[in-house]
Amino acid sequence: MALPLPKRVQLRDGQEALIRTLSENDLPSWCAMINACSEETLWRRFERRAKKAILAEALRFCSPNAQEFVLVAEVQGQMAGEARLCLIPEAQAAEFCVLVADPWQGVGLGSLLTDLALAWADEHGINRILVEVVPENLRILHILRSRGFRFREGAGQILWGERLSPRV
Ligand SMILES: CC(C)(COP(=O)(O)OP(=O)(O)OC[C@H]1O[C@@H](n2cnc3c(N)ncnc32)[C@H](O)[C@@H]1OP(=O)(O)O)[C@@H](O)C(=O)NCCC(=O)NCCS
Repeated sequence: MALPLPKRVQLRDGQEALIRTLSENDLPSWCAMINACSEETLWRRFERRAKKAILAEALRFCSPNAQEFVLVAEVQGQMAGEARLCLIPEAQAAEFCVLVADPWQGVGLGSLLTDLALAWADEHGINRILVEVVPENLRILHILRSRGFRFREGAGQILWGERLSPRV
């Protein structure tokens, strides 16, 4: 999956998505995206179900900084999903997470955001991508395993995943 960004792509249902980096003006759309998520989706991404608690941290999530690379997807002007790499420069590593709000799940957006984030990481010399997944999250396990992630059990039944860059 090729960069650069912004990028327009067609989803499996025929809709067009615009993929771009997060900007500081995205706070209202980001909150609307969280409001469109079910408790289950929030649990799988944030390991928390309470919308209110996540929205209380919205400003932090929407303040891009040098330690993060955040991609967002817009469909018909609404923010539908994001992929986030939190960089750990001293280890040439990054923690990955991805979210697609419920109305847009299942049409390829999560896979696409994942591919673009991994391509960005490979282009920026990141050797290890780390991820935490709840074991019942078969959808993300399928996506990540098919992209080279290996998983092992961590504390509290969380699965820890790791992908080494093709360069390593
Ligand atoms: C996980 C998530 C990001 C996936 O995004 P999405 O846009 O819904 O997923 P896609 O349509 O791109 O792809 C889904 C893939 O999972 C597969 N899948 C769906 N249900 C599955 C299941 N129960 N078991 C295994 N694979 C499954 C689909 O077949 C598809 O794979 P394919 O393209 O090889 O056919 C999204 O559902 C989401 O945000 N979930 C809640 C938050 C979350 O889990 N975040 C990840 C934590 S890091």
